[in-house]
Amino acid sequence: MEIGPGDNFGVALLFLANGVSNVVAIDKFAPERDPTRQAAVYQALNSRHNLYQLFDGAPSEDAIKNLVYLPGMSAERYFGNAPPPFDAVISRAVLEHLDDPLAALDAMWAGLRPGGLLLHRIDLRDHGMFAGAHPLSFLTLSGWLYRAMTKEIGLPNRLLLPPYRAFVKARGWPARIGITRLAGVAGDFPALAWEQLPDDARRQSLAVVKEIRPRLAAPFRGMADQDLAIAGIVLVAEKPS
Ligand SMILES: C[S@@+](CC[C@H](N)C(=O)[O-])C[C@H]1O[C@@H](n2cnc3c(N)ncnc32)[C@H](O)[C@@H]1O
Repeated sequence: MEIGPGDNFGVALLFLANGVSNVVAIDKFAPERDPTRQAAVYQALNSRHNLYQLFDGAPSEDAIKNLVYLPGMSAERYFGNAPPPFDAVISRAVLEHLDDPLAALDAMWAGLRPGGLLLHRIDLRDHGMFAGAHPLSFLTLSGWLYRAMTKEIGLPNRLLLPPYRAFVKARGWPARIGITRLAGVAGDFPALAWEQLPDDARRQSLAVVKEIRPRLAAPFRGMADQDLAIAGIVLVAEKPS
């Protein structure tokens, strides 16, 4: 299961190419697609990864074999209806858009077979709300103001690392959370622990946090510098067999 594939099925294709037998993709919103660009995307994926066998005919979105796509279907609605269990439930840059991602994680966990895997890449940045300003400016707005500004328009829920960490701990899930981004640092990392990140990157992001700390809104004031510096994570949890 991939939640929120967005513009194309590149992730699903790579799963199918690497031995997965069937993929279900659900997306709350179906983006408008430009057929010419889509064709170029599938041709490029195809020539890079040699995926001909995964298509019924010429490579295109509609010709992907063993993919079920449910546009207009939210994660909350899908998992709320007790679907048949999955081997893996994954997403990329989606959980930060959910109103209650922790409740959604509970529902996904229930929808995993024993031995199954949750794998979510979560982007904790401001999604360009304050482009050009301090990268943590969005954490200076009070809860009611932020909710009023972002209601129903898909901007991030501002759930940072600590609630995810506390949640998996409380559930007792065998989980690992790797860090993929730091505030104010360009580029991303391959899901590392804090201690494994480059020294200069850690220092730079901690300095970025210090700059804005006096202006932070209440829920963020009490957080450790390190937690505020973490701007992207991968959460992996395996359900015991
Ligand atoms: C930032 S895009 C990420 C798209 C793609 N995964 C990527 O990495 O480029 C967020 C995606 O999540 C989907 N989404 C947002 N809320 C959702 C929900 N509650 N259930 C399912 N999909 C959702 C959106 O429709 C959109 O396709």
